[in-house]
Amino acid sequence: MTSLPARRSAPAFGAARHAPASIAVLAGDDDASRAHTTELARELMLPLAETAEAGFDLLLALTPEHLELRNRRDPRIHPVYVDFSHLDLRPYSANLSRRQPLARAFGKKTRVIVDATAGYAQDALLLALMGFRVTAIERSPVVAALARDGLQRLTALTGALLTGRLELVGGDARALLPAIAPRPDAIYLDPMFPPKRRKSAAVKKEMRLLRELVGDDTDAPELLTISRGIARDRVVVKRPDDAPPLAPDPSMSLTGKLVRYDVYLVRN
Ligand SMILES: C[S@@+](CC[C@H](N)C(=O)[O-])C[C@H]1O[C@@H](n2cnc3c(N)ncnc32)[C@H](O)[C@@H]1O
Repeated sequence: MTSLPARRSAPAFGAARHAPASIAVLAGDDDASRAHTTELARELMLPLAETAEAGFDLLLALTPEHLELRNRRDPRIHPVYVDFSHLDLRPYSANLSRRQPLARAFGKKTRVIVDATAGYAQDALLLALMGFRVTAIERSPVVAALARDGLQRLTALTGALLTGRLELVGGDARALLPAIAPRPDAIYLDPMFPPKRRKSAAVKKEMRLLRELVGDDTDAPELLTISRGIARDRVVVKRPDDAPPLAPDPSMSLTGKLVRYDVYLVRN
């Protein structure tokens, strides 16, 4: 659903193990897109690059179709953008089934979910389309901008389908969660998976870029502790199927394709 994806004098994002990438917004070349990209650069507190050759590693560029992140260091990597247009939105389509592990992990009573690690909002969107009310929180401004662009284009296609069911908020969930009222039935966490010790060619270059952009989410255990004190009924954590749980005592686990959903029941 997504083309996933995301360095020099610009602000650095995430806890990259290499020198952080410099990133800028590429100025649009007509009046309307120039105004739009100038505003975006201001919002994201990024420099505005007048040309693609301005020397930045990564460029956020607005095309007639979408907002995309271009990697200037490696032209073999396709630009990254969020695109939900191929999703099968029919109510009984398989990806919206409440029988799949992601939905079952939330139990029968959950209505309201906070997705505290929204990323490109793929899971948040699926949950909203399944009928949950979802507030999605993302702390990387660049990732949030790409997700917002994908969701806005989907909304343009589907009209009011998602109205009142999905809200994307920028910020760190550790600070935002305690202020959310009313408290959600459930909190969903999908922090970055632990890095593989040996880099496999199979790990998509786009995924490596995402890690470079947002880091390793090493504060995920803290986010889980905070979440367990706030959710009314449960916290659901997505993990690779071969990784240990984020905290040692999940109440139950549901296994999906290559991933596991660890459920922490709470009584708040
Ligand atoms: C693996 S991605 C999530 C993918 C997402 N589930 C999807 O379906 O697109 C993890 C994301 O969580 C974000 N994140 C991690 N900790 C966070 C926090 N405390 N507050 C907000 N966002 C956080 C990271 O910036 C990263 O974009």
